[in-house]
Amino acid sequence: MASERWALILGASSGFGAACSRALADAGFNIFGAHFDLKMTLPRALAVKADIEAKGRQAIFFNKNIADDRNRAEIIAKIQEYFASVGGGTIEIVLHSVAFGNLKPFITDKPEDAVDRKAIEMTLDVMASSLVYWTQDLVRANLLTRGAKVFSMTSAGSHRVISGYGPVSAAKAALEAYTRQLSLELTTRGIAVNTFQAGVTDTPALRMIPGHEKAVAQVQQMHPDGRLTQPEDVARILVALADPKLDWMTGTVIRVDGGEDNW
Ligand SMILES: NC(=O)c1ccc[n+]([C@@H]2O[C@H](COP(=O)([O-])OP(=O)(O)OC[C@H]3O[C@@H](n4cnc5c(N)ncnc54)[C@H](O)[C@@H]3O)[C@@H](O)[C@H]2O)c1
Repeated sequence: MASERWALILGASSGFGAACSRALADAGFNIFGAHFDLKMTLPRALAVKADIEAKGRQAIFFNKNIADDRNRAEIIAKIQEYFASVGGGTIEIVLHSVAFGNLKPFITDKPEDAVDRKAIEMTLDVMASSLVYWTQDLVRANLLTRGAKVFSMTSAGSHRVISGYGPVSAAKAALEAYTRQLSLELTTRGIAVNTFQAGVTDTPALRMIPGHEKAVAQVQQMHPDGRLTQPEDVARILVALADPKLDWMTGTVIRVDGGEDNW
């Protein structure tokens, strides 16, 4: 039915994407979710889907690499087919929350231990540029219309150095630039584009970063509350911002880090 509310979460099976899927379902949204899980981690995607359905909402999930052009076209076609079958519909909220980056250093004694062109291009493509391609195609397919809001996930790495985070740092800087540019070009269509800057959050992606234990200990030590950011901190703010009355915020980096980036 056209009155159903729908969100599209890219990276729905874990971390921020999973928490936002669950919180949006609590707030009345049905969820199209994309994720990329093999046998070991597939149960987490099934658990998110089951939780959404247990809340009385629909969950249509796709286990695909969202950075692949054919997969993007296929998923968008399936979403269009679904809306056609129920008499119409659009996506109100998009969250781009995929973590799939190369975490090698730039400078090493042996070249094979360092980041190379392929690694940098892959990281930028998956973690940043795919936001542009998804937004373009969703707008072209009339799935994002006036009032829709696109969000993504950046980090303090966009403007700070973090050991082993070189390609992801570059992807985050690009993601913020894409956010500004997309917001400019989508303003007249009434579509907002913003990015959340989350603080250090204990997710599978964080645990992949070499030396993440040090970053965790540092935040826990410095934060007056002694805690890290949690995926649910972002999810609560996303749900609040999904309110259609909040429509004049676009092109911004929204910090959800308990103040961590001030230190
Ligand atoms: N964890 C942190 O401390 C932190 C802080 C700030 C920003 N972020 C950003 O938040 C985003 C999500 O990270 P997370 O910590 O929730 O990670 P996570 O590992 O918990 O979840 C990543 C999700 O992305 C999906 N995914 C990865 N590659 C994919 C691909 N090619 N196609 C489809 N799905 C894919 C996974 O299946 C999973 O659902 C990332 O952009 C990350 O850089 C994380």
